[in-house]
Amino acid sequence: MSLQQIKLIQLPKILDDRGNLSFFENERQIPFKIERVYWIYDVPGGEIRGSHAYKSLQEVIVALSGSFDVVLNDGIQEKKFTLNRSYYGLYVPKMIWRYLDNFSTNSLALIVADQSYKEEEYIRDFEEFKKLSQS
Ligand code: TYD
Repeated sequence: MSLQQIKLIQLPKILDDRGNLSFFENERQIPFKIERVYWIYDVPGGEIRGSHAYKSLQEVIVALSGSFDVVLNDGIQEKKFTLNRSYYGLYVPKMIWRYLDNFSTNSLALIVADQSYKEEEYIRDFEEFKKLSQS
């Protein structure tokens, strides 16, 4: 999979004096059927989450609150996305190495995925990922 498949999706934004609202729905703004939702929060300063790839799982990452960087690598190139708006979703296809860092205080990362949690989906060794991504 190449970095070209990665997309920053602008989500609907309903502006309102009472407060703004954004949303996504299965297979509409999100290009797959959502099977799992999880979130990462209370990340101590300087910590890194992720550092793995998935064999076939796709996901969308949203900074619901605060900001953090998502660093993506297809085995050849690396690209960094800074997420700091709750109306953008970063679509990450399968077979992309990714880690999240530079979390601001009180940041909240929401991740929706097309599969339930399975450890067999993970590639946790970067050298193994590079080999598999080139085969
Ligand atoms: P992991 O995905 O390895 O987190 P990170 O890559 O950010 O370090 O998950 C950490 C632990 O949480 C791991 O032991 C499995 C568990 N986990 C679940 O049980 N369900 C989930 O949906 C996720 C994402 C993790």
